Amino acid sequence: MARQPKQATNCATALPAADDYTVSPQQRRTISQKLLRWFHQHGRDLPWRENTDPYRVWVSEIMLQQTQVERVCDYFRQFLIAFPTVETLAAADEAEVLAAWQGLGYYRRARQLHACAKMVVSHHDGCFPETVDSLTALPGIGRYTASAISSIAFAQTEPIVEANSRRVIARLVGFDRPLSGTAGDAPLWEIAASLVPTRQAGRFNQALMDLGAMVCRPAAPSCHTCPLATACVAFRDGLTDQLPRMAKPRASVAVDEVALVVVRRNTLLLVQRGEDEWWAGLWDVPRAAPPRGSLLRTARREGRLLGEVRYGVTHHRIRADVVLLHAGKGNTLDQLGIPLASEPTAHRWVPLSGLPRIAMPSPARRIVTLFDRADHTSLG
Ligand code: ADE
Repeated sequence: MARQPKQATNCATALPAADDYTVSPQQRRTISQKLLRWFHQHGRDLPWRENTDPYRVWVSEIMLQQTQVERVCDYFRQFLIAFPTVETLAAADEAEVLAAWQGLGYYRRARQLHACAKMVVSHHDGCFPETVDSLTALPGIGRYTASAISSIAFAQTEPIVEANSRRVIARLVGFDRPLSGTAGDAPLWEIAASLVPTRQAGRFNQALMDLGAMVCRPAAPSCHTCPLATACVAFRDGLTDQLPRMAKPRASVAVDEVALVVVRRNTLLLVQRGEDEWWAGLWDVPRAAPPRGSLLRTARREGRLLGEVRYGVTHHRIRADVVLLHAGKGNTLDQLGIPLASEPTAHRWVPLSGLPRIAMPSPARRIVTLFDRADHTSLG
């Protein structure tokens, strides 16, 4: 990649186009040979790489969407024991799938995984389609995941761009526009398409991800062990600590809320999160954020503060006061002012002993743990 990006000519703010950075067929050959050789020796031994069965590739890619590789390994093995085929997954209850997903977070993925399994069984005879277009028509499969499945499981010549490969590609070609969101990635997809070899695209893509994770790390990349150092623009120009350029992250928002542990005769009140909420489908403790005045007043008047829990969701930093309330005959939910959704299935009283089997968001688990540790000898 000895060539420089073309300079913008007549407009100071014009940005270089992706084709200023795409590589020639000769460069592609050299890069892919070096990278594939390196992958053969140093590639990670990951459980989903035992074979290229599309079901395994798909499950692993969905798990890896927002979760670190190390964390996914155990979950992947357990999940494959619980649901060894797309048919077993499609036939399972959603609650079972959510329970197997517990701890991985971002439960929407699990619900879409389940919906996708049903669709593969009902519309595709249990066989995943091979092309990116047909894969992206399935629930929960976006461009990255479709390209990963298509290249790894079906040997299609498809590029991928995800967190690790994005960094490798940006440094390799010296791509110096800020990257953010999907729009920012569009030129990188073009560059990735010029890099991916027609044979062994799946291995090449996995090698890019491994190189990004193991060698071309965000900070202190290990360029002296990198198989692509001699082709790398950032290495040549001393720019590895500046590339990729990231757009400013979204400012975080602080939120204060009250989380209610509402107890009635050894049962705990849980509400199911709605379709368009965080943690859709999971069972959570009721919460309120100011200015829900009446609930806050009740919590202060009737409740006992158990402690606080802090957690983050997207760009929100949340601090929740955890308040214990006893519900009973003289203290109905109405009187307590607890807002419940109208459908009867949207809330339930769960025996305390049954809580471990309920699919709950991890902050709700921590809230229940606070309650477990508190002295509550006098349950109403
Ligand atoms: N991240 C996302 N997909 C991956 C894969 N198949 N291997 C390693 N890291 C990944």
